[in-house]
Amino acid sequence: MLDVVILAAGKGTRMNSKLPKVLHSIAGKPMLHHVLDTVAQLGTDNLQKLVVVGHGAEQVEATIAGLNCHCVTQAQQLGTGHAVQQVLPQLRDDALVLILYADVPLIQPESLTGLLQCAGPDTMGLMTVNLANPTGYGRILRNGDGDVVAIVEEKDATAEQKQIGEVNTGIMAVPAKKLIQWLPELSNDNAQGEYYLTDIIAKARHAGTAIKVFQPASAEEVEGVNNRRQQAKLERIYQQAQADALLDRGVYLADPSRFDCRGELTAGRDVEIDINVVIEGKVTLGDNVKIGPNCLISNSVIAANSEIKANSILEDAVVADGCVIGPYARLRPGTVLKSGAKVGNFVETKKAVIGEGSKVNHLSYIGDCEMGARVNVGAGTITCNYDGVNKFTTTIGDDVFVGSNCALVAPVTLGDTSTVGAGSVVTRDVAADELTVARARQRSITGWQRPVKQPK
Ligand code: UD1
Ligand code: MG
Repeated sequence: MLDVVILAAGKGTRMNSKLPKVLHSIAGKPMLHHVLDTVAQLGTDNLQKLVVVGHGAEQVEATIAGLNCHCVTQAQQLGTGHAVQQVLPQLRDDALVLILYADVPLIQPESLTGLLQCAGPDTMGLMTVNLANPTGYGRILRNGDGDVVAIVEEKDATAEQKQIGEVNTGIMAVPAKKLIQWLPELSNDNAQGEYYLTDIIAKARHAGTAIKVFQPASAEEVEGVNNRRQQAKLERIYQQAQADALLDRGVYLADPSRFDCRGELTAGRDVEIDINVVIEGKVTLGDNVKIGPNCLISNSVIAANSEIKANSILEDAVVADGCVIGPYARLRPGTVLKSGAKVGNFVETKKAVIGEGSKVNHLSYIGDCEMGARVNVGAGTITCNYDGVNKFTTTIGDDVFVGSNCALVAPVTLGDTSTVGAGSVVTRDVAADELTVARARQRSITGWQRPVKQPK
């Protein structure tokens, strides 16, 4: 039985922002959600999530509505011990309590599992790290036997204690029964006038409760965010870790430091990603997919052997195998490219199916369109899908040839193997196999005299 307490009441004054600190993002996801996602990975069944909110409480609660969290308000931030006191009525007697911080977003599930394994009915787990520069942190005091006896905060520490490099991460696992006993006894008689959660260590020591220390694989996991610099630093750490994981799985990244994944990327074999590519949401790339420089790929699926050339944007698009997109293409939500389709430069698509082997190579807008196979859409063609009030569909059959600079005024259907002459404004359906030309007929005037300049 696990009760997870996440402290999320802080204002984050040094972020210099209106947004409550814990809602600031790493990789496009609020820090609080990073912590909640990590908790979800613990795979514990009988788990209760308690979130201590304070600054921007309503906003914070709204963003986690539906995530099965119980929010408890800490009206005034009187210290970490005071924060945990707020959840005492919610704690289950027989639970182990895991204390986490919404502004420490990179903690890994493996580390939490390791810490939880240290704790038991009469043992608490404490996560510490050794830092070359421990300034600002609570220091871990040990006795001659190496047992942890107390934590002293920086502001209360003697010059000698400040030399200690082992620091408190704040993350701990404590039996609920003990917290229920110790927390009400905390005093705020210290340099900061706060109720320190860390004072429970000395209480555990006196009560004969064992304190087992667990250290995470990397101190970066337990770094907190108090300002924009720290946020930017953790963003880079997070992105580097994602890039490393992709490299390990065989993805080629032209430069791991110029790759950003703000979501989940699933990639097949021999995928190549050039510089400055941003991945958002859920993206799946099949084998041998190539992404050129400066592309944004959001919630899309790109099947094997397709290539996205430089400076293209894909949003909620489904691309089949062997397609070529871009450079400078914009695929908006609802775009579906069938096998071997091509969408070239300065082409925008929206809610459009581009059939197998069909090509829209230059300067077009294709929206609300069902297109068959082997269609060729000439440069500058536009599906006029909107009359200012409603949207209509353009249906294009198989093997259609649309000349350059056509306006297809929806609703309209072009039958299979029909041809539309360049510059046509098509307002009526085009029958199969026919040539349609809907433009002013060309006229040539012989003996035409150019005007001459009039005398002044
Ligand atoms: C705390 C620890 C310190 C540890 C450090 C690690 C205490 C007394 N000290 O110090 O030993 O080395 O974390 O980063 O616990 N919070 C609330 N309500 C409050 C006070 C704090 O929700 O009343 C939240 C803050 O928003 C923050 C976290 O708890 O997310 C830590 O609080 P903070 O004041 O930053 O603790 P430190 O002084 O850094
Ligand atoms: Mg503090």
